[in-house]
Amino acid sequence: MNEAWLIEQFKWLHRHPELGLKEYETTAFLTGILRQSGVRLLDTGLETGAIAVISGKADGPVVGLRADIDALPIQEASGLPYASEREGVMHACGHDFHAACMLGAALLLKAQEDRLPGTVKIIFQPAEEIDNGALAMVATGLLNDVQAFYAGHTYPWLAPGTLGIKAGPVMAAADRFSVRLRGRGSHAGHPDNGIDPIPALATLVSAAQTLVSRTVDPFDSAVVSITHVEAGNTWNIIPEEAFLEGTVRTMTPATRDAVQQRLERVARASAEAHGCTAEFEYQRGTASVINDASACERASAVARDLGFQVVRMPSSMGAEDFSDYLTIAPGAFIRVGTGGGCEAHHPKFTADPSALFPAAKYFAALAVSELNRLSGEA
Ligand code: NI
Repeated sequence: MNEAWLIEQFKWLHRHPELGLKEYETTAFLTGILRQSGVRLLDTGLETGAIAVISGKADGPVVGLRADIDALPIQEASGLPYASEREGVMHACGHDFHAACMLGAALLLKAQEDRLPGTVKIIFQPAEEIDNGALAMVATGLLNDVQAFYAGHTYPWLAPGTLGIKAGPVMAAADRFSVRLRGRGSHAGHPDNGIDPIPALATLVSAAQTLVSRTVDPFDSAVVSITHVEAGNTWNIIPEEAFLEGTVRTMTPATRDAVQQRLERVARASAEAHGCTAEFEYQRGTASVINDASACERASAVARDLGFQVVRMPSSMGAEDFSDYLTIAPGAFIRVGTGGGCEAHHPKFTADPSALFPAAKYFAALAVSELNRLSGEA
């Protein structure tokens, strides 16, 4: 394997994007190369995705590297010569880069397998964008012995040769809520004969704007967005009910609990103030990604040794299911500078291929360094 070859594999992946849980060709492509190179694959029982194992000392420590492999329902407009060949599907979040990067890391580790003081499990995860791929990988039980997890993510605002690494919360928990306010319909000329749910809805929308400013530590961050409201269908009837839904984004479990509780209280109180009842639903999605401080220090040291510039990774209110792995063992989610300057999930998103081979070398070196540390501790 060399740099030119790895870039070719990345371009193949970019031309052949597949949506979450439909990554059949992607999986066959990756596992085909891995098998040919003598890399062992675990039987995950899942239809897509794979776990590759590179193992020197069998009873040594275990480190996990994760790449997500799914694409998005976006029509590509990058103008790249290796743009998507699939109508309406695009690697617009760089998961093709992640897959190629960890494929490269796997092959670099395979070349030194005999000397490894432990095992590296490389996870090619399906369905990150639709939010359940990591849970499926964790549920296989095949990762329970992993002692540290690392993942990289393309980042268009950092140049190639730069990594963004930061301890603490870096990606948000993404939850969904809805409230159905029930009143009693009536003639609009006789609101006194009914119970109007619309003032209750208006009170709730206003009150929700103060949740973050009155509930959350000013040095912490959270978002409450109401994104969908519905009530009534004409001008002269007071409707029976009103509906709203939206999302809560938080960075820590304590803030998540606090905002959820306060939102429910405000919803019920707004309903009650106007004589309505509230049906409150709160669905927890992906938890926030909280990077381990010492994992970040070690990851930064390895990066500097390899000549990377390391900057503090910007946090995001976007969600990432890498958090599911961190329920097994600590680790770090690392931004890989891939230039381009166009945000992810945009039809013109690109990742500079020149960042790929150095990133593959970095994650392989990080895994080796972690195995050395963990086997020294044992
Ligand atoms: Ni992504």
